[in-house]
Amino acid sequence: MDSSEFLEFLTTRTSVREYGSTPITDAEIEYILSCASTAPSAGNLESWDVILVKDEDVRLCLCDAAFNQQHIEQAPVILAVCANYVRSMSRYGERGILYALQDASIAGTYMMLAAHSLGLQSCWTGAFDDEDVREVLDLPQHIRPVVLLAIGRGHPAPTRTSRMAAGEHVHNERW
Ligand SMILES: Cc1cc2nc3c(=O)[nH]c(=O)nc-3n(C[C@H](O)[C@H](O)[C@H](O)COP(=O)(O)O)c2cc1C
Repeated sequence: MDSSEFLEFLTTRTSVREYGSTPITDAEIEYILSCASTAPSAGNLESWDVILVKDEDVRLCLCDAAFNQQHIEQAPVILAVCANYVRSMSRYGERGILYALQDASIAGTYMMLAAHSLGLQSCWTGAFDDEDVREVLDLPQHIRPVVLLAIGRGHPAPTRTSRMAAGEHVHNERW
């Protein structure tokens, strides 16, 4: 893949919130998780974990925890990517909180892009009640849910969402 193909790959990903009923295969899930395993992490500690959710009842509970966002119930697979504070803080102390959040975010991003490379659709979902998700998924206190990544088979959005010009993010040398 050359650089223009890479940009094309990135720009053709869109968030999709409606999915058909065709399941995601085990091979697809395995591929997505393998891709996530290549993500960089602070100290190479990989301070993230993921709960693979396929069960309809659990998805329904997660949908409630995510303020009734219907795509969470509808997606055949939810990857609940979590920061593992203990793994990171054991080496980095308080700074480990930030590192674990970064590790989980990067791993989740890799999963989202891996799904895209398979022609699957996804929606990064960050709006949820932490405590409710914690309860639904039996998460221990040192595990913080970072993203509910909904993955399914849908139709890419016909038009891309707009973006700020890249330069608007940039401050040269100083803020
Ligand atoms: C941190 C974060 C939180 C998000 N939370 C939600 C969410 O709770 N529900 C939702 O439908 N989309 C959510 N999104 C998806 C964004 O709405 C979407 O990425 C953005 O509008 C750009 O559209 P695109 O992904 O199609 O390019 C979230 C994305 C990010 C990065």
